[in-house]
Order: sequence, then structure tokens, then C-alpha cells
Amino acid sequence: MTDNLHLNIVILAAGQGTRMKSSLPKVLHSLAGKALVQHVINTSKKLNPEIINVVYGHGGEQVQQQINDSEINWVLQAEQLGTGHAVEQVTNKLKDEQLVLILYGDVPLIKVETLTNLLEKAKDGFSLLTVSLKKPDGYGRIVRDKNGLVENITEEKDASNKVKEINEVNTGILAVKADLLKKWLGKLDNNNVQEEYYLTDVIAMAVKDGYTVETTQPDNEHEVMGVNNRLQLAELERHYQQEQANKLMAGGITLADPTRIDIRGKLIHGQDISIDINTVFEGNVSIGNNVSIGANCVIKDSKIADDVVILPMSILDNASVGKGSKVGPFARLRPGAVLSDNTHIGNFVEIKKSFVGLGSKVNHLTYIGDSMIGKNVNVGAGTITCNYDGANKHQTVIADNVFVGSATQLVAPVKIGKNATIGAGSTITTDVAEDELAITRVKQKSIKGWKRPAKIKK
Ligand code: UD1
Ligand code: CA
Repeated sequence: MTDNLHLNIVILAAGQGTRMKSSLPKVLHSLAGKALVQHVINTSKKLNPEIINVVYGHGGEQVQQQINDSEINWVLQAEQLGTGHAVEQVTNKLKDEQLVLILYGDVPLIKVETLTNLLEKAKDGFSLLTVSLKKPDGYGRIVRDKNGLVENITEEKDASNKVKEINEVNTGILAVKADLLKKWLGKLDNNNVQEEYYLTDVIAMAVKDGYTVETTQPDNEHEVMGVNNRLQLAELERHYQQEQANKLMAGGITLADPTRIDIRGKLIHGQDISIDINTVFEGNVSIGNNVSIGANCVIKDSKIADDVVILPMSILDNASVGKGSKVGPFARLRPGAVLSDNTHIGNFVEIKKSFVGLGSKVNHLTYIGDSMIGKNVNVGAGTITCNYDGANKHQTVIADNVFVGSATQLVAPVKIGKNATIGAGSTITTDVAEDELAITRVKQKSIKGWKRPAKIKK
């Protein structure tokens, strides 16, 4: 729909953000795990623009480095002399036939649909996104004439008491034909209380030149709310998370408490999933059907198949859990942990860069790293694959139907053959053949009449 618009997007992000009280530029503070300005860039891209300009100032190098996106045209505004001055810095990137959309790096939740409506209305010259607020304090007010047409925007600091009573305010987001914008930008002055070049003054110029300034409003005021301090950041985060939670519930997920789940990325899911409180999802996570996730889990960039149970306090990072498996409580699946179907990974078990075969169980207090574990293997409590010799990592291979007794160390590189058994308490340093029992325990001695050392009385 926006394809043939010749869209030129300008994102203003040069403000200092003093009220954040931070050494990090404001637009790099994160909302749902992503920099504020990244949200705006991602939304911008969905509109298929010909160019995205980001006007940066304070801390700009840091912003460019972190965003690291070659599709962005970065424009420096060395001194912040106002929103109009900021847009002026982009003048040589504005082509006459383009439609310019002005967005803000610290207004992260603006929606594609809202912008599409705004752009639709800008075809004849100019459109403005406004919102009616119960408390309009601090915002530029939309002044309309007796026919209800927009006349100008008056900044609060320049407003009379009568104008201050107006509830409809400027969100700052607007769309305007590039040729017109260029003409009007050239005429801006800073004859106002703040001695700034106001972008908003182009509205009065448009009216004077006989253009009707069209307006649209967003569905929800959070879309146009900016972040100036950490309280506002937290408010927007909660709003965003509530929206995510609502979508999940509409899609077939039961949430024990929709206010206690955080999605910092993308969650793809099936149906009949239940998620207990305080779970954090990061990056790209996919969950199949009929899955239950216990309280206080952190799940990042992982895949969970159908019929899986994740018990409380488990951490998954770049892991994959096969159908019908059970993980936790207190399990840690680190990058490269791949569990086949029907596996059991129990409490205080850490698995890294390892494959666990169909139906195998690693139930208690164990470290499995750089390992290949076959089918129907039982790894006893307190087993450690000693994968690191202080310089290099080595592999442990455990074939099908192996039984590893408790408190065993498998010193890699080492291979345990099919159906082999490892006696509890063994330190295995060489390969074990199929069907054999390997045991390295010192033979048990009994000493009759043995007395424990007694405490020396002083
Ligand atoms: C602006 C609008 C006001 C509107 C409000 C909505 C103007 C003159 N006023 O006021 O009508 O109600 O936004 O939040 O436009 N920026 C730059 N360079 C500058 C100045 C600002 O990049 O030289 C960026 C800031 O980083 C910020 C945005 O522009 O993201 C808005 O600037 P700010 O000074 O906060 O404008 P407001 O006074 O809030
Ligand atoms: Ca502001």
C-alpha cells in the first residue's frame, strides 16, 4: 500500500536525554530487549521507504555503532537548535517527489497501521498525527479555526491560558511532501520563548499557503508517548508487555498472570500452552503444542517441541528440546544443547554443546559438555564429562543403552560402547568396549576397631 509513495523517513534522535541520568544515549536504552530507536527503525522498514535518515547528535557514534545498519543514512546535528533545525540537516536527502515522514527515536511504540493511515492522508500535502490527552501539559496544542481546520500548533511555553485548555496535542509525527517541506523549512525562525527552530511552525505556513492540514489519531496513546525518564520507560515497557500477553492469550496460551511475563523478542507458539509466572523469553523462541512452562524460567533463542514440560527455575539458551521431554527444575541448557524426544533432564544438570538421544535420562547434579549421548542412556547423579584439559575441549561419546553409575568422571576424549556399564564412582580415562563393565573404584576395605580421631581437650 505504501509501495508507490516514494517515502523518505526522518527519525529525530539528537536529543541528549538528560533526564535519563545516564551515560548511555537515551535512544539506546532498551525496551523489550531492544534499543528504543531500533523499534522505530524496524517499524520504518515495514513501510518500504526509499531512505531512512537518523538525525543524531549527542553520543551519536555510540548509536551508529550499536545499531550498525548499513541501510541507514546517518545525519549529524552538531548543535540541537530545535526540531525544525534537526529536519533541516536532512534537506539534501529530500527529493521533490518524495513524501517525508517524521518520526522520533524516543517514541518507540508507534504502529505501522497508524502510520499507514497518516501517509494515506498526506497525499495532498500534509498530515499530522494528533492525540487528545486528559493532561495535555507540556505538549504543543493543536489550534483549530471555527470550521475545525488546523490553524497552527502552539508550544506550551508560548501558549496563552486559553490555548493551554486545548486537549488535542501534537505528537510530533507528521507526513509532508518533500518539495513543500523544503520550502517551509527555509522560512523557519527562532522567534519564540525557547529560541528554537520549531518544526511545528511549518503547519501555520502550510495553512497560510492554502493547504489543509489533515489529522489522524492513533488507536492508543501509548503509541505516541515519548521516553524522557526511566519512569516513562518502565510505563511503556509494561504497556508493551501487556499487549504481548494479550496476544499470547488470544493465541491459545494460558498465562498464570499476564502481568508477570516478559517477551523480549519473538515467541512463535502452538496451542494449549501454560506458562506460570515470571518467565522471560528472549530472542527467537518457538514452542509447540501442549507445553507447560513452570515459574521463573529464562528461555532464549530456543526450540521446544510438543508435549514438553519445563519445570520451574530452568534456563534455556540456544537449546532444543524434543517432543515429550521433561526439563528441570533447576536445569541449565546452554548453547548447543540438543535433546531428542522423551528425554529427562533433572535438577542441577548443565548441558552444553551436546546431543542427548531418544529416551535418555540425566536426572541429577551433572555436567554434560561436548558430548554425544545415544538412546536409552541413563546418566547417574553427579556425573561429569571432563571436557576441558586446561587448553582444549574434547568429546565424550556414549553409545545406546549405556548405564553410567553415579559420581563418575568421564575424562574426554573418551568413548563408551553400546550396552556398557560404568560402576559408580569411576574415573574413566580410556574407551570402554560394548557390553562391558568398567569400574575404577579402589576395592573397599574394612578395618575392625577403627576409632575416629577424638577432639583434644584444652
Ligand atoms: C515537540 C513538539 C511538540 C509536541 C512534542 C511531542 C516541536 C517544536 N514541538 O516538543 O509540539 O507536542 O514534541 O512530544 O517540535 N530533537 C532533535 N534535535 C533538536 C531538538 C529535538 O533531534 O534540535 C529531537 C529530540 O531528541 C526528541 C524530539 O526531537 O526526540 C522532540 O524534541 P523535544 O525538544 O523534546 O520537543 P518537545 O519540546 O517535547
Ligand atoms: Ca519531548
